[in-house]
Amino acid sequence: MKIEIVDSKTPKRGSLVLVVGEGRQLGSFGQQVDKACGGALGKAMAAAARFSGGKGQWLEVLAPGGGSGGGLNRVLLAGLGKTTEVKAVAYEAVGADAVKRLATAGETELAIGAEVLKGTMLPAGEAAARAALGARLGGYRFDKYRTKMKDREKPTLKTVNVLTQAAPAAKKLHAPLDKLAAGVEITRNLVTEPANIIYPESMAAECRKLTKLGVKVEVLGEREMKKLGMGALLGVGQGSERESKLVVMHWNGGKKGGKPVSFVGKGVCFDTGGISIKPAGGMEEMKWDMAGAGAVVGTMAALAGRKAKVNAVGVVALVENMPSGTAQRPGDVVTSMSGQTIEVLNTDAEGRLILCDAMWYTQQRFKPQFMVDLATLTGAIIISLGHEHAGLFSNNDRLSEQLAAAGKSEDELLWRMPLSEAYDEGLKSPIADMQNIAGPGFGAGSITAAQFLQRFVIDKTPWAHLDIAGVAWSKKDKATVPKGATGFGVRLLNRLVADHYEDR
Ligand code: BES
Ligand code: MN
Ligand code: ZN
Repeated sequence: MKIEIVDSKTPKRGSLVLVVGEGRQLGSFGQQVDKACGGALGKAMAAAARFSGGKGQWLEVLAPGGGSGGGLNRVLLAGLGKTTEVKAVAYEAVGADAVKRLATAGETELAIGAEVLKGTMLPAGEAAARAALGARLGGYRFDKYRTKMKDREKPTLKTVNVLTQAAPAAKKLHAPLDKLAAGVEITRNLVTEPANIIYPESMAAECRKLTKLGVKVEVLGEREMKKLGMGALLGVGQGSERESKLVVMHWNGGKKGGKPVSFVGKGVCFDTGGISIKPAGGMEEMKWDMAGAGAVVGTMAALAGRKAKVNAVGVVALVENMPSGTAQRPGDVVTSMSGQTIEVLNTDAEGRLILCDAMWYTQQRFKPQFMVDLATLTGAIIISLGHEHAGLFSNNDRLSEQLAAAGKSEDELLWRMPLSEAYDEGLKSPIADMQNIAGPGFGAGSITAAQFLQRFVIDKTPWAHLDIAGVAWSKKDKATVPKGATGFGVRLLNRLVADHYEDR
C-alpha cells in the first residue's frame, strides 16, 4: 500500500473519504465534491437520521451518482465532532479507520480529503500529514504466515492519496512521521514473530539491519558478557540452547562527543518462567516478552530514519528463559556486573536480572544524559493499571514529567507509580546482597521490581522505568493500533527526544 500526499481535487474513480463536522458540516472541498455528485452527499446525510457528523461516526454513500463525480465507487463521510474541538489525532483516526474500512473491500484506490473545517485550529499541512500517518499505522497487517487466505480476505488497496490544499507543508511534516511509522512497524513485526523465528541471535540480526539507516550496531555474545561480569543476565539464559546476546545500537545525529540519551530494553524472546515454570494456559503470550527490546529497536530506527539531531544509544538484552538441565535453579546466587550479588528465588522474575546488567553497562560505558528502560516486567502492573496506562517509575521528576507529557501527545499513556525505600525490606536476602523477588505478603510486585532496578542506577543518573506488560499487546482494535503488537514506546520516546533532547 502506497501512501502519498497530493493536491486536492475531486478524484475520478476509486473511493473518497470526506471529513464532516458536527451538524453535518462539509468543508469547501466537501461541498465541491457534493456538487460534482449532484448533491448526493447532502441527501444521504439528510436521509441517515443518526449521522450528525459526530466524532467517530461514518456514513458510506455508494455510487454517489451523476455529474462529474459519477466515477467514484463510494464516498465515505467521516464525522469529526465539534469543529472547535478537533485535534490532530482526529485526523490520524480518520486515516486509520478509512484504510481499515476499505482494505479488503475490493477497492484499489482510496483518497482521503484531509481538509481542515471552519472553526478548527489546525494547520492544513498537519491535518494531512497526520491522516497519512494514521493510514499507515492503522493499516498495519501481519499476514506472512497465512498461506490459505481466500481472495476476498486479501487486501486490495494499492494507493492511498491524502488530499490537501497544503501539499508542500504536509509533505514536509509527513516525511519524519513516515520514518516514525516505519519504526513502529519494525517493533510490531519483532513482537508478533513467534519465538522459533525471533530468538536472541535472529533478533540481533534484525538489529544489524539498522546499519543501513546509519546506526552503528555492536553485538556481544556470551563470551564477551562473561568477561564483563554480567552474571545476572547470563544466569537467565543458561538454560537455553540459544546464545544470549547484548546488542548496542548507536545513532550519532547530535553534537560530536555530546552525552547520549539512552534506552534499555528487556528482550526475553521467550519466557517459560524457567525452573519456576509458568502454567501452560496462555504461555504462548510470552513470545512478546521482548517488547521492551522491540520498542528500543523501533525507536532507534525512527530516530535514525528521520535523522534526529541527537546522540542516542539503544541497548537490548536478549535471552530465552528456559527450563533444562543447565537452567538456573531457585536459590542460585549470581553476581551482577555491578558486583552486587543476587539470590534468585524465582527464575520467573528474570526481566530484572537481565536489565540490571544491561543498565549498569549502559551507564558505565556511556554516562548518558538519562536512561529509560522498557520492559514487560510484571503481571502486577496489569492488576494496577490494566491496559490503558504503562507504569512509570522514576528517580527524576523532570524526566518523569517529560515522559508523561510525551505519552499524552502520542496517546501512549503513562501513570507514575511510587518508588520508596520502604519497599526495600522485601528484597533482603539471608545469603546475598538482595533477592530477586519480595517474599510472600509484601504485595506491590511492580514497585518492588522497580526498587530492585533502582539499585543498579549509578550516581542519580536520571532514570525512568516503563513497565509495559499491560500495553505491549492489545486484544482490542484501536484506530491507529490494530489488535496484536502495539509498538508501544516508539512514538512516546521519539516524541520525548523531539520535544526536549534535539540540538536546534
Ligand atoms: N514476563 C513476565 C511478566 C508478564 C506477565 C508480562 C504477564 C506480560 C504479561 C515476567 O517475567 C514475570 O514472569 N513476572 C512475574 C514476577 C514474579 C515471579 C515476581 C509475574 O509478574 O508474575
Ligand atoms: Mn518471567
Ligand atoms: Zn518475563
